[in-house]
Amino acid sequence: MSTLTRLPELVINPNILAMEYAVRGPIPQRAAALRGQGRSTIPCNIGNPQALGQPPLAYFRQLLGLVEVPGRIARERRLNALWQAGRLDGVEADDLVNESLLARAEDYLRQLESGMGAYTDSTGPVFVREAIAAFIDRRDGADGRGRPFADPGQIFLTDGASEAARSIIEMLVADPSDGIMIPIPQYPLYSATIRKVGGVQVDYYLDEEAGWSLDRAELEASLAAARAQGVRVKAIVAINPGNPTGAILDQAGVDEIVDFAAENGLLIIADEVYQENVYGARFVSFAQRVGDRPVPLVSLHSISKGFVGECGHRGGYMEIRNPPPVAGGTQNLVQVATKQASVALCSNTVGQCLTWLMVNPPEAGSEAHRRYVAERQQILDDLHAKATMIRAAFDQMAGVECFGRTGAMYLFPRLGRLPDGSSDFDYCMQLLETTGLTTVNGSGFGQRPGSQHLRIAFLPPKPMLEAVLPAWIDFHRSYVGG
Ligand SMILES: Cc1ncc(COP(=O)(O)O)c(C=O)c1O
Repeated sequence: MSTLTRLPELVINPNILAMEYAVRGPIPQRAAALRGQGRSTIPCNIGNPQALGQPPLAYFRQLLGLVEVPGRIARERRLNALWQAGRLDGVEADDLVNESLLARAEDYLRQLESGMGAYTDSTGPVFVREAIAAFIDRRDGADGRGRPFADPGQIFLTDGASEAARSIIEMLVADPSDGIMIPIPQYPLYSATIRKVGGVQVDYYLDEEAGWSLDRAELEASLAAARAQGVRVKAIVAINPGNPTGAILDQAGVDEIVDFAAENGLLIIADEVYQENVYGARFVSFAQRVGDRPVPLVSLHSISKGFVGECGHRGGYMEIRNPPPVAGGTQNLVQVATKQASVALCSNTVGQCLTWLMVNPPEAGSEAHRRYVAERQQILDDLHAKATMIRAAFDQMAGVECFGRTGAMYLFPRLGRLPDGSSDFDYCMQLLETTGLTTVNGSGFGQRPGSQHLRIAFLPPKPMLEAVLPAWIDFHRSYVGG
């Protein structure tokens, strides 16, 4: 029998204790408590599209079902044969799985070799990495000269972009004086991870009134201030399209960061998980603008966002361009990242398969492609329409201004007229209590001192928005007065 009356205290890594992540912070926690009491809430605190009714792409799930269940492809083929022989009464053609999808699923399993339940190569199956490289080249118009081809050997499948960001930041921060520049406001994955690994967060502010654009003087000033304090700045993070701002960088904005990184010997971490969420604007990738310049670049993509929205399945990739040699050894960054990936064995195979589908959709001209394009358009049009509805509601809220183009899945309005002594946190908490709408306070992402914001994900179904937006307008009126 144990003689312990109390459990002994555990000393925990202080960096983990100090880490903060507002997207799942006190406001969403309060929302969960309210739901526990039977209240309904609208979770706009996080970009989790399928939690708010966005349907998965049919083709993706059909193929996943075929590769996951052993014997299913053969069974579907037997059903097709019976149907063609007129021996399946009451079954419609739509109830069956067509041969082209069956062939594609079979092809996936053939290339995977050992099935979905086996570990793959640490960095992901080579045919998936080749498909990713081809996708990047198509997207960027690579010609192998000024726009070099992507190298499958420098692509890593990951359990989502969060894991990729963690992995690269862990590799970069070797010492407590190592710093990483991040935009403010930023997605708190970056601040939290830098905190966790004990590095220095070096802020550069985005220019809100210029549509959250970049300013070269601000980049220079932020770098100089950090260096003056003895910080060894190693990398700069760019989130494009932005989270929480939704801002979309144009070519000049991307070039600004590439030039700045080139001149100051920095590695670029380009978080491009929202590259499909541009609603008519043009997405310019960092890989394309780095071109053949000797700038190290790590770019991230994910199955969680865009029109795919498969957040729970955890998938994505990281591409390293121009891997720098690692100081004091014979390895380069790709080799070290490969070692790092090998310790985790491999990313999950469902996420790998969905990543393959994301970069390798159904063949143009097929019925499956027609349906895929229609679903994609519907999802993106819907997102855009919902963002427009919310922006229109801001026009009826005194002091609320939302700058920049609509990108990603978020709006980040400035709350210009909060009563004295009230913070954006108080506002968001009260908004939740009054309307059930769960948003995140701007201070959770960082913002210019003295300014107040909130972030809302524009994901709820339109009828839900139609119901809650008038309630929000009323709430705002009574909160700010007048
Ligand atoms: C900018 C940004 N990067 C990365 C992530 C994480 O994506 P994943 O689900 O692929 O880990 C998110 C999630 O919201 C995000 O907004």
